Amino acid sequence: MTRTILIINSKGGSGKTTIATNIASYFSNEGKSVALIDLDPQQSSADWVKARSSAKKPIGIYNALNYGKIKRNTDVKVFDAPAGIAGKDLTKVLTLAQSVIVPVLPSPIDMKAASKFIEALKKHPRIVNKKAKIALVANKGRDFTNIYWELDDFLSKQKIPFLTMIRDSQNYIKAASRGVGIFEMGPAMTDIDRELWEPVIKWLKSKRSMP
Ligand SMILES: Nc1ncnc2c1ncn2[C@@H]1O[C@H](COP(=O)(O)OP(=O)(O)OP(=O)(O)O)[C@@H](O)[C@H]1O
Ligand SMILES: [Mg+2]
Repeated sequence: MTRTILIINSKGGSGKTTIATNIASYFSNEGKSVALIDLDPQQSSADWVKARSSAKKPIGIYNALNYGKIKRNTDVKVFDAPAGIAGKDLTKVLTLAQSVIVPVLPSPIDMKAASKFIEALKKHPRIVNKKAKIALVANKGRDFTNIYWELDDFLSKQKIPFLTMIRDSQNYIKAASRGVGIFEMGPAMTDIDRELWEPVIKWLKSKRSMP
């Protein structure tokens, strides 16, 4: 069965594309056939694939118009959602995935915006009926002290799994411009990042992320 993963948050710039591309590259390096579907007209994921060297493990790139053409035997589909999705469009994208990851930035403004979005998600029939599972990932963590605990408090109130805090690192900027994921970069340089990613990978491989 194809694993389907959606990265979504109504707020722009929270790290949807960063997380989508890193998940795609992770599974591709595990030998899985991977399709990355860029639902955003900005096409940042598509740009990432364009920058990707042909020497790297291949990742198929699709968009909102052609993802119906993805081969049936594809192992993993990763959907990168655009910002601002609500209403019917939200329902539509939620039908695409078994596992939904919501990246949140650890800033008061972003957390407030995210909490509204998460409330809407939690009430959505797809989530209520457990047709799709959601989890939160904090992104661009800088110091793991003050704001972290505020964030943790916020996240624990959401009553949905909070997987990890991905750190703010130049590695993600470099990875984005080179069309790679942190799992394809020097292990010493990305040591901490790989460790922080571990709970995301674990969740995606566990039944907890499945309907
Ligand atoms: N953990 C991180 N460390 C450093 N830079 C990051 C990190 N995550 C994301 N960025 C950078 O922040 C910017 C926004 O991230 P990204 O494009 O992934 O967000 P997005 O949610 O997809 O945005 P949009 O809503 O515009 O699609 C990008 O320039 C990206 O490279
Ligand atoms: Mg994006």
